[in-house]
Amino acid sequence: MGNSIASVASQARTTDVDFALIGHQESWRAAADVIAVLRGPERTPIPDDEIKDILPWIPPRPICHVDIASIVGAKARGLYIDSFIPPDRLEAAYVHENIARVRKAAACALNAGAKIVSLGGFSSILIEGNFDQLPQKHETVFTTGNTLTVAFIVQAIKKMCALEGRGLAKSTLLIVGATGDVGSGCARCLAPMVKRVLLGARNVERLRRLAAELEADGVCVEIATDLQGFSTDADVVICAASLASPSLLLGHIAPDALVCDAGYPKNLSPSADMPGATMFFGGLGQITGGMSFTPDFHGILNRHPFPDVVHGCLLEGMALALERRFEPFSQGRGFITPDRVDEIETISARHGIYLAPLYNAAGPLEDTLHCQMLSAAAR
Ligand SMILES: NC(=O)c1ccc[n+]([C@@H]2O[C@H](COP(=O)([O-])OP(=O)(O)OC[C@H]3O[C@@H](n4cnc5c(N)ncnc54)[C@H](OP(=O)(O)O)[C@@H]3O)[C@@H](O)[C@H]2O)c1
Repeated sequence: MGNSIASVASQARTTDVDFALIGHQESWRAAADVIAVLRGPERTPIPDDEIKDILPWIPPRPICHVDIASIVGAKARGLYIDSFIPPDRLEAAYVHENIARVRKAAACALNAGAKIVSLGGFSSILIEGNFDQLPQKHETVFTTGNTLTVAFIVQAIKKMCALEGRGLAKSTLLIVGATGDVGSGCARCLAPMVKRVLLGARNVERLRRLAAELEADGVCVEIATDLQGFSTDADVVICAASLASPSLLLGHIAPDALVCDAGYPKNLSPSADMPGATMFFGGLGQITGGMSFTPDFHGILNRHPFPDVVHGCLLEGMALALERRFEPFSQGRGFITPDRVDEIETISARHGIYLAPLYNAAGPLEDTLHCQMLSAAAR
């Protein structure tokens, strides 16, 4: 690979690094774009079919520095480390290979002296939030980043309900992947605000445990291992299942349901037929104090229709670095509570890290919704 990548790796050992972000690409297109930047503009791009042969052989490594600024003047320097997990190898069959990649990426972060490391995408799922599986160094802590992810999903649901004039209190909320770290955090935050909660996942024992916890707080809960098995249609849906590819078909939901896809990779199948539903991507925040990549991966690592939008799991480490709170804020599975969500939301907002503008595969949503509301009001 090009000289720029070699210099990122060597500089990472000689310059101070506050945070590290461990990620992997969601699609072959994104992976090809990353490799093209690493090779440099002077080299002809590698054909897409060859990328598929090459990527599995690339070891995890730092690929760029990430400099961020807070709206109150704090600055932090980080490192983006790509684990180069191939986009089509997230299934269980590759779990050992992928854990080894996450461990190697974590070793790069330790080697660079990062004080906090955010585990993006499948990195924390692979180790089930268990940091003991990662190499250790006294001065480096890890966070899954899932608490800030939950905060952004919850904020987005509330915002969309407000934009569409929907009463959350009258809604039936379905969470797919409800027993996961993100799903259970969303359930704890939103269940007290809705009429009824439908919890979906494959393992019935875990579903029963979460249902019992919510019912003890007076929430009306139904569980199902098959999404067709619920007695009622949901009008608000959160998709937070750890699916290796976008393959989810939702079954029975209200025709005008609000659907938040928070998966990475996305949960919803492109063939999911939901003509009347409003679908949007969830768990994303925007860093408004500024963010730059060296070498320049702008628009490649953050492929969103708005500037400086980042997944909540990565932003959590950035927010904690700006706050100089180097602690494993989110760890384990199933410990995310509304109080912790409030806490990370407050820390992030202090530094100008807010919910990102909402969008879906067709583009930005809020202007469209605003126009629809204005024309409905005019009729
Ligand atoms: N937007 C962001 O910034 C962001 C941040 C963090 C995570 N994420 C994404 O959010 C998703 C969940 O992450 P997590 O950390 O909560 O994962 P997790 O703790 O491993 O939980 C995954 C959940 O999905 C369920 N599940 C897995 N396969 C399923 C299937 N085929 N059908 C139905 N349910 C299934 C699991 O339960 P069973 O095993 O019992 O089915 C569990 O409830 C992932 O896609 C992750 O990449 C996004």
